Amino acid sequence: MTDLNTLNRHLSRPLVIKGQVIPKRVILAPMAGLGHIALRHLISGFGGFGLLVTGMCSAKAVPHENPDVSLVFKWRQTELPHTVCQIFGPDSGIMAKAAERIEREGFFGVDLNFGCSVSAICKKGAGAALLKDPDKAFSIVNEVRKSVSIPVFVKYRTGWENNPGFAVDMARRFEDAGADALTFHPRVAPDRRNRPPRWDIIGRVQKAVSIPVFGNGNLFTREDAAKMLRQTGCMGLSVGRMAVARPWLFAEWSNGFIPPKDIYYTTAVRMTRLLETHYNEFFSLKLFKKFSPYFCANFKFGHDILKRLSRAQTMEETRRTLETIFNADPETLSRPNPHLFL
Ligand SMILES: Cc1cc2nc3c(=O)[nH]c(=O)nc-3n(C[C@H](O)[C@H](O)[C@H](O)COP(=O)(O)O)c2cc1C
Repeated sequence: MTDLNTLNRHLSRPLVIKGQVIPKRVILAPMAGLGHIALRHLISGFGGFGLLVTGMCSAKAVPHENPDVSLVFKWRQTELPHTVCQIFGPDSGIMAKAAERIEREGFFGVDLNFGCSVSAICKKGAGAALLKDPDKAFSIVNEVRKSVSIPVFVKYRTGWENNPGFAVDMARRFEDAGADALTFHPRVAPDRRNRPPRWDIIGRVQKAVSIPVFGNGNLFTREDAAKMLRQTGCMGLSVGRMAVARPWLFAEWSNGFIPPKDIYYTTAVRMTRLLETHYNEFFSLKLFKKFSPYFCANFKFGHDILKRLSRAQTMEETRRTLETIFNADPETLSRPNPHLFL
């Protein structure tokens, strides 16, 4: 599966998750600080995805969170039918209560974070810490399953040791506990994306369960997408950082969208406008600076572009800087440069 048409056809086969059909087999990975309402709005304009996923939301906060002031628990009504809300927490009752609100608001599904290895999250016994206490993780899946009828997703990684058998066993038990789909990132928990993910384990995980597995980790180009599908047989793909660098990637991989030459400039400017639509000036600037390293990774001299963008003090100045940068027609890379981000 090397040419774009074959990849398009493959990713455009509908996929059923708990009786609900998603039109495309490539979804956004959850990303705190990056997968916010403005990025999802931007991606929605291009289309081509099966689902969008929010960054992780604290399950403790979700039941009383106010979307008008929250940075993360915030959405557009029109995106709800194809958006999954991710939650984290160590307690099954609290996770279930959060899932109930997520269902009431009208999200497509709820995703349980059993993969985040950031110490602030693990110290609370949440995220990847739950892979050290599998029974607790299964009881969370079970409790959430009982409390809602929307699809329940689990996002997890290999575990704390490089033991594929553990990841496979977890997948089976997540399915038994009531999960409807898995997103699997084949890295061990202390590894913060500096070693290559072991895609071979994705294949083993998908073979062990009958529910869809979305393979995740280092999907940079459409050749990578075709290779992961071919090598692992996973039913779907989950794309994180490259969806920030190239928000049109879903449309390209699954709809045959051919990006016009000015796509980089128009997309960056649109991002500034969408941030301002959903956030105040302070947070717009802050979130644009989080987006910038991924966006700048598209260019041969991305470090220099990033330096110039990071000096901007306002959104207006950001747009003026973008105009100057793109007037010089910067050279793009076919594979984004991973040295600009982790
Ligand atoms: C800045 C950043 C924030 C992330 N936040 C989350 C998160 O909130 N929940 C989660 O399950 N994974 C999170 N991840 C992990 C991604 O979902 C994904 O597993 C990882 O980036 C590998 O996929 P990729 O190579 O396509 O980026 C985050 C990753 C990054 C780079």
